[in-house]
Amino acid sequence: MTFGPMPIANGFVHPDKAQTDDYRFDLTPAVCTTCNLFQLMEQPDPEMMFHDEYAFFSQTSSHMAIHFEAFANDIINRWFSSRPDPFVVELGSNDGIMLKHFAAKNVRHLGVEPSANVAAAARKNGVDSLVEFFSEGVAKQIVEKHGQADALLAANVMCHISDIKSVAQGINILLKQDGLLIFEDPYLGEVLQKGSFDQIYDEHVFLFSLLSVTALFSGYNLEVVDVAPQSVHGGSMRYTLARPGVHSQSPSLKATLRLEDDLGMSDHKTYVEFSKRCKNTGRNLKQLLTNLSHEQKNVAGYGATSKSTTVLNYCGIGPDLIRYISDTTPTKQGKLTPGTHIPIRTYETFLSEYPDYAVLFAWNHEKEILAKECEYLARGGKFIRFFPTVEIIETDENS
Ligand code: TYD
Repeated sequence: MTFGPMPIANGFVHPDKAQTDDYRFDLTPAVCTTCNLFQLMEQPDPEMMFHDEYAFFSQTSSHMAIHFEAFANDIINRWFSSRPDPFVVELGSNDGIMLKHFAAKNVRHLGVEPSANVAAAARKNGVDSLVEFFSEGVAKQIVEKHGQADALLAANVMCHISDIKSVAQGINILLKQDGLLIFEDPYLGEVLQKGSFDQIYDEHVFLFSLLSVTALFSGYNLEVVDVAPQSVHGGSMRYTLARPGVHSQSPSLKATLRLEDDLGMSDHKTYVEFSKRCKNTGRNLKQLLTNLSHEQKNVAGYGATSKSTTVLNYCGIGPDLIRYISDTTPTKQGKLTPGTHIPIRTYETFLSEYPDYAVLFAWNHEKEILAKECEYLARGGKFIRFFPTVEIIETDENS
């Protein structure tokens, strides 16, 4: 299947450069029939995506901050309490949202982060960062300077790395014999269950599953010993890997393999059905917004997510259907959405003139947002969600 020509998902456009926003690549996912790895057939050059103006800062959601604190504490309490002077390395450490909890407890740590601006923000949080793309060469450098790592962590990073074999080889070099690789990423099983096709965009080169992670790392002296579903990022999976035979395997592996079998992850028909479902959702969302526009309703967007770039460009939704998108990230405000040029406004804009409808592009934070926006809902404001189906939300169903 293809989602057609796409701009860079996080490539928010300065209004002065709207005329030259013409870079596109073909967003075409495929599944490997040998290793079951769901992947993009074409990827933009990483320098086009992760650069000094990279707009993604992890710190922007309070829910994510809590999630990463719990992640860090779990590792410190479960794995590090019995180790003398443990060393943790995080790949794609962003603004230090997770490593700062290790830094606060004086645990030896190092972040590897290719975007200089977010690495600078991490340093302000007391987190040591190396501004590099992680690779075999970088792994060797780290071992020479700091020794091997007790734990290698990555959150929403592994699925971004097209040269995954170099990374797996680097991990093999950097990880101690009894060390652990723990990473989490959006889970293919959730995408298939919810039909959440907006997880497919340039940065998500891969959507992993237990099947594909097992196959991928089996060539690098690592086996999966635990899987744990996570509610963040619209449904993620945390994979824990170790050297073969060093740690016992958790019962969660069997249950997840059964789920993946039930979902038909290795069956071509599953993806044909998925493709049809994406088309339907896209059509229904555009139809609803077109109807609202005919009714002269004031429609805004909530959260200028990377994911929204796929939805907006695939469905052909522009400023004629959505007047603006409100977002709390200062670096996105005042810019335009990639390809579709919907203005991004401050959160205060949303508060000052509650729209009739707000399309919930940050649907992965639905619980947090609905709780925060009880006044908007109470005053008759409505949210629009589009997964698993296109629906209007009139009350906080979670409360
Ligand atoms: P994120 O969850 O990181 O999704 P993606 O990986 O697809 O970009 O992005 C959430 C975006 O939504 C981020 O730009 C901040 C914004 N946001 C708000 O504007 N208000 C909110 O209450 C929340 C939770 C997020």
